[in-house]
Amino acid sequence: MSRKPIVVGNWKMNTTRAEAVALANGVAEGTKATTSVEVGVAPPFVYIPAVSMALCDASSNVLVGAQNAWHEDKGAFTGEVSISQLKDVGTQLVILGHSERRHVINEPDEVIQAKTEKSLASGLLTILCIGETLEQREAGETDRINKAQLRSALTDLTLSDPAKLVIAYEPVWAIGTGKTATPHDAQAAHAAIRTVLADLFDQGTADAVRIQYGGSMKPENAAELLAQPDIDGGLIGGASLKPDAFLAIVNAAAS
Ligand code: PGA
Repeated sequence: MSRKPIVVGNWKMNTTRAEAVALANGVAEGTKATTSVEVGVAPPFVYIPAVSMALCDASSNVLVGAQNAWHEDKGAFTGEVSISQLKDVGTQLVILGHSERRHVINEPDEVIQAKTEKSLASGLLTILCIGETLEQREAGETDRINKAQLRSALTDLTLSDPAKLVIAYEPVWAIGTGKTATPHDAQAAHAAIRTVLADLFDQGTADAVRIQYGGSMKPENAAELLAQPDIDGGLIGGASLKPDAFLAIVNAAAS
């Protein structure tokens, strides 16, 4: 089964408006000839319109994404942004359940489930993040945690287009720490995730859903990680803030 790799930059709470536009332009320029990898960038909410416009002006295929969303369309949810509002300003993908939302902002599983269901129903490309903490890894619980997070977000969900769901396996201990899972360990986790997807949906769906690795992916380690059979791209934090580093990872995914 051939899956088109997907590499997405998660800019987190970084950049000014001008820096966001410059970064988007750099990514657009460097991916002009890229057809074998799906590429996206997720700026802070407030810069989505500016980035969307820059990518549009550059006639770029790079997708613009949000780092979070709320699952109700409108109403009394102070400080939240709905999926329909995000789509209204050109958003094409959304990252949900990121470990910083799970562990720093304490977002519960039920909320991540509601957001995932709503996002997929809306047709947005949906990146669902999962992953274990260091304590859980050391206790040998990686696969159990990944399975629980997948089941909680995806059980009873109808997936009409498996290409619209992307799982980002991001071991919490590897995010922003410079520590990366070994290609062997990452591959083992990805293969186990695919088995869970086959149980939740069917084998064909599991084979079509892309599973990204995230957690200190950089040009120096990307090729080896991306060469693993079940690693279908990357969700990139720190290295996505420098066009050269991000583009090197995109190129590693293309080859
Ligand atoms: P990192 O972040 O690449 O800086 O480790 C990845 C992420 O949080 O998605």
